[in-house]
Amino acid sequence: MFHFLQNQKSRILVAILIIISVITSYECRKDKYVVPVCYDTDVQPILTNKCSMSGCHNSVDKAAGLDLSSYAGVQASFKKDEILESINKGKMHPAGYQSLTSNEKQILARWAAQGYTKGECSLNSVACDTTNVTYTNSIKVIFDNNCTGCHNASNPSGGWALDTYNSSKTCAQSGRLLGAVKWLSGYSAMPKGGNKLSDCDIAKIQKWINVGMPN
Ligand code: HEC
Repeated sequence: MFHFLQNQKSRILVAILIIISVITSYECRKDKYVVPVCYDTDVQPILTNKCSMSGCHNSVDKAAGLDLSSYAGVQASFKKDEILESINKGKMHPAGYQSLTSNEKQILARWAAQGYTKGECSLNSVACDTTNVTYTNSIKVIFDNNCTGCHNASNPSGGWALDTYNSSKTCAQSGRLLGAVKWLSGYSAMPKGGNKLSDCDIAKIQKWINVGMPN
C-alpha cells in the first residue's frame, strides 16, 4: 500500500510536506486574528452605563479618583490592570447598581489585551437595518448596553426604568425618550455624560416608536 514511500524522492517529499504543514499550522495559530475592540462604540458605553452615574466615576464626582466618562479621563485616572482585576473579582458595583455582564467583562478583557488603545472602529460600520424593529430584537440590546445601569427598577434615574418592555414603553409613550436620545433642546441629553448613540440606534428607537412599540 505504501509502495511509493519506498522511493527515496517520495520519502523526502512526504517529509517536506509534513514539515511545511507543521510550520504553517503553527504560524496560523500564532497569527490568529482577534477583532480589535473599538473604544468609542464598545468600551465607553459600558463605562458610561455602569460606572459613571451620579456619585460615581464621572468628571464631577471622581469616586476613588477615577473619571471613566471619557477616553481622556480614563487615560488620566485608569489604574488599568488593578481596575480590571477588581471588576473581575466582583469588588466593583455596590449594592443597588447593576454588575457587569460576562459579555461586558469580555470586552474589557479584550481591551486590556490590546493595551487599552482606542482600537479599530471602521469594522463596526455595517448597514443600518430598521426593518422589523421590535423591543426584543432591536431595542433591548441598545438599552442594556447604554442605559440600564442608570435606568432600572431599583435605580430609575429621573423616574424612568428601561430594563423591561413595559417600563421602556411607558418611557417612550411619555414623549421624553426620543428627545433625550436625539439631544433635542428641552430634554436631558442621554446617555447622561456619555457619547450620543449611533445614528443607527437612534433610527431604530424612532422606528420602534413610530410602529407602536411592538414587544
Ligand atoms: C450615567 C447615568 C445615565 C445613563 C447611562 C443614562 N441616563 Fe437617562 N437619565 C439619567 C438621570 C440622572 C436622569 C434625570 C435627569 C437628569 O439628571 O438629567 C435621566 C433622565 C432620562 C430621561 C428623561 C429626560 C427628560 O428630559 O425628561 C430619559 C428619557 C432618559 N434618561 C433616557 C435614557 C436613555 C434612553 C439612556 C440610554 C441611551 C439613558 N437615559 C442613559 C441618568 C442616565
